[in-house]
Amino acid sequence: LGSDHPIPVPNRVADRRTDDPESVRCRPGHFANTPDTDLSVDGNRLWGNEITARVAGSVLGEELVARHTVDSPDQVDRLIEETTAAGAPWREMSGARRALVLRSAAVELERRRGDLLEVMAAECGKTLDQADPEVSEAIDFVNYYALLAEGLDVVDGAIAEPVRLTVVTPPWNFPVAIPTGSTVAALAAGSPVIIKPAPQARRCGSVMVQALWDAGVPREVLRLVHTDEGAAGARLVSHPGVDRLILTGAFATAETFRSMRPDLPLLAETSGKNAIVVTPHADLDLAVKDLVASAFGHAGQKCSAASLGILVGSVANSRRFRDQLVDAVSSLTVGYPDDPTAQMGPVIEPASGKLLSALTTLEPGEQWLVEPRRLDDSGRLWSPGVKTGVARGSQFHLTEYFGPVLGLMAASDLDEAIAMQNDVDYGLTAGVHSLDRDELSTWVNRVEAGNLYINRGITGAVVRRQPFGGWKRSAVGAGTKAGGPNYLVGLTNWRRIPAAE
Ligand code: ALA
Repeated sequence: LGSDHPIPVPNRVADRRTDDPESVRCRPGHFANTPDTDLSVDGNRLWGNEITARVAGSVLGEELVARHTVDSPDQVDRLIEETTAAGAPWREMSGARRALVLRSAAVELERRRGDLLEVMAAECGKTLDQADPEVSEAIDFVNYYALLAEGLDVVDGAIAEPVRLTVVTPPWNFPVAIPTGSTVAALAAGSPVIIKPAPQARRCGSVMVQALWDAGVPREVLRLVHTDEGAAGARLVSHPGVDRLILTGAFATAETFRSMRPDLPLLAETSGKNAIVVTPHADLDLAVKDLVASAFGHAGQKCSAASLGILVGSVANSRRFRDQLVDAVSSLTVGYPDDPTAQMGPVIEPASGKLLSALTTLEPGEQWLVEPRRLDDSGRLWSPGVKTGVARGSQFHLTEYFGPVLGLMAASDLDEAIAMQNDVDYGLTAGVHSLDRDELSTWVNRVEAGNLYINRGITGAVVRRQPFGGWKRSAVGAGTKAGGPNYLVGLTNWRRIPAAE
């Protein structure tokens, strides 16, 4: 920060909106390096839905030929036909040539790091400590998939045949890394792409796509569309001309998409209900740190987040563990991301439904260790909460909430802890804290999840080192792992030509 940005005092929430320009710590446009991301009106920053409304209502519909706001199934049909036809040269290019373009995209994303931080903060409430590594992850995806593209044309004697069209429907919770990863994977595999950003993250999607266009991905080959759920959205994910669909979102959404077109190969990373097990052989200080980071990073709105801590034996009654956890959670600073000291930001929309219920009510046997508080009138800003006494089979045990509330369960031994971890319908991430080798090998062999983490947090999988994707209801369709060596294979058709006899 420049010297004209005084270091703010933590824990003051009321004055963190931008109504009074003098109180703004990070002024609108603070990180941005192009006018594309000026998200302010008369010096007041726009937030969340205000930006989305502006984007949907005016700017993107007219701005550039390759950005579309589509309202009717007919428009979607036309867009699909045009994109498929225009994609021929991209499909015919060698993987190595496509990789060259994509490597430039990594440079463009780096150049736009400031813009991306700006839109992630303003549109999705991402604090800087969460947003900055996300840009790095997006760049890692681009470089890694470029590397895979270089070796893709012929694998084990079979020829990779790019598909006609891939549709990408990413989420709002990783509004840059996941859209970039999905889009670039399909492009690397030779497919033209239509991407429809989540309605809450249209601006993020737009800046990311602009970076790819600037890198040399033709606009006719990579199309950005904004459409609401409804007839046009349904057509986009079920049109017979679509060969692959990449979705990151709720399990229910994947099921809906699958029912619309059961024959369409779907690569879907879906929901999670993830737990960290802490045994009496754990380094408890480390366990507290990792639980807090995994539960409350991005206000708990990660499919990989820890929603449960399963405390084995004496840990459940450890006063020291409990006091440290309470201290750590209570001292998290909460605020909108224009405050660089905010460690936890807002939730994406005013808390309602099951999340509101998890933040404000207790089931039988539960007690608040740290009770969440609503911090302003928006309904988006909550202090983090921890409930203890979560019962096996209760709603909290089995439901994904996507918000800043952690539940603690007590298990009599490691066997019961693993059973509790496996009770849920999902199997995305799972963690254990123990310094005992036998416990660790028992746990690793029995836990049902795609990404296992030992003595560390359970979010933030690293591209290539920790390919990401789950079991059970956390994956629908091909189930290959994003950021892993086989991801492009699922986005390609394979043709084997037998050698002449
Ligand atoms: N890939 C993201 C993570 O690991 C979801 O946290």
